[in-house]
Amino acid sequence: MGRGYLTKEMKILVTGGAGFIGSSFVRCFMEKRQNPVVTLDSLTYAGNMANLEAVLGLPRHTFVKGDICDPSAVDFAMKGVGAVVHFAAETHVDRSIDDSGIFLRTNVVGTGVLLDAARRHNVKKFVHVSTDEVYGAVLEGYSTEGGHLHPNSPYSASKAASDLLALSYHATYGLPVVVTRCSNNFGPYQFPEKLIPLFISNALEDKPLPVYGDGLYVRDWIYVDDHSRAVDRVLWDGRAGEVYNIGGTKDKANLEITDFILNKLGKPASLKKHVQDRPGHDRRYAMDSSKIEKELGWRAECNFEEALAQTIEWYRSNQGWWRTIKSGEYRNYYEKFFAGRLAGSSAGSVN
Ligand SMILES: NC(=O)c1ccc[n+]([C@@H]2O[C@H](COP(=O)([O-])OP(=O)(O)OC[C@H]3O[C@@H](n4cnc5c(N)ncnc54)[C@H](O)[C@@H]3O)[C@@H](O)[C@H]2O)c1
Repeated sequence: MGRGYLTKEMKILVTGGAGFIGSSFVRCFMEKRQNPVVTLDSLTYAGNMANLEAVLGLPRHTFVKGDICDPSAVDFAMKGVGAVVHFAAETHVDRSIDDSGIFLRTNVVGTGVLLDAARRHNVKKFVHVSTDEVYGAVLEGYSTEGGHLHPNSPYSASKAASDLLALSYHATYGLPVVVTRCSNNFGPYQFPEKLIPLFISNALEDKPLPVYGDGLYVRDWIYVDDHSRAVDRVLWDGRAGEVYNIGGTKDKANLEITDFILNKLGKPASLKKHVQDRPGHDRRYAMDSSKIEKELGWRAECNFEEALAQTIEWYRSNQGWWRTIKSGEYRNYYEKFFAGRLAGSSAGSVN
């Protein structure tokens, strides 16, 4: 029994499970645990049923297509659920700069709808998955959980708002909420608008790799399955009302990542193209993860260079996955997948 009274029979609701990190979590969790899992995802441009192929059809897994902003869809998905792991979000900083509205709706309003439903359904644990970007740029040293929040993009501001909303439900209503803040993830199945899959796939297509500004922006990188293991630890044993930083302890400048990818794929440095910087671009993110290490015994296990090399190899040998996305064909894939399976309600499910 973990803190928050989870049991191995309890049904777990994972929101955003058809996305990059959510699908890694569902795969890792279902491999390790016996709990039934419900994945709730509205399948935005970033959601992809192909990411869930490993679990689709398993009797212990149910997929619900629905929007976290829709209370009836959320109620449908939360029936009989003991714990919620909340990944669903709009996640791409550049898109938030172009149009922040959907970020406020999904990340703030959607989180509020889930929290209200979690109260009604008497959920025993609510893990809200967030990001190191809420701390803003950290030029020196490392952000700790009690540190100042200083988000600089509409994306990170919407995440900071949802973190605070989630924590307020613990303080006000006693809902057993735990917030995690993780650094930059990489691995298979990441939508190819994010730096690493974009650069790998562009390099494979001999297209330019667009490096923002001088390319010296530093991020702490973590392999996605290490993040999923950390979320699993927090789900079982994280203390309600607490925040846990999850870092990979691997600070790298974007240019170092770019060079690594080009070298591994045997592509020329001339593919690097410096482009106009992103407005409000944070110079460096860095977190102190000693709390989760000491309290929950979690530590990033994957070696950065090995994991990045394996990730490059995954995109090289799974070109169908990202080429379908880049060509827009993947929309047809899941429209066909759902054709005839879902009744005309706001939410419906398949195994
Ligand atoms: N990618 C990172 O490096 C990183 C780092 C730290 C934290 N995070 C956080 O982790 C979570 C997952 O990130 P990701 O990179 O996997 O994102 P992603 O963009 O790959 O996936 C997001 C998923 O949420 C779903 N979704 C979006 N809006 C929805 C809605 N209204 N209703 C239901 N589902 C909806 C999408 O269809 C998609 O499947 C996010 O909360 C993000 O803020 C990401």
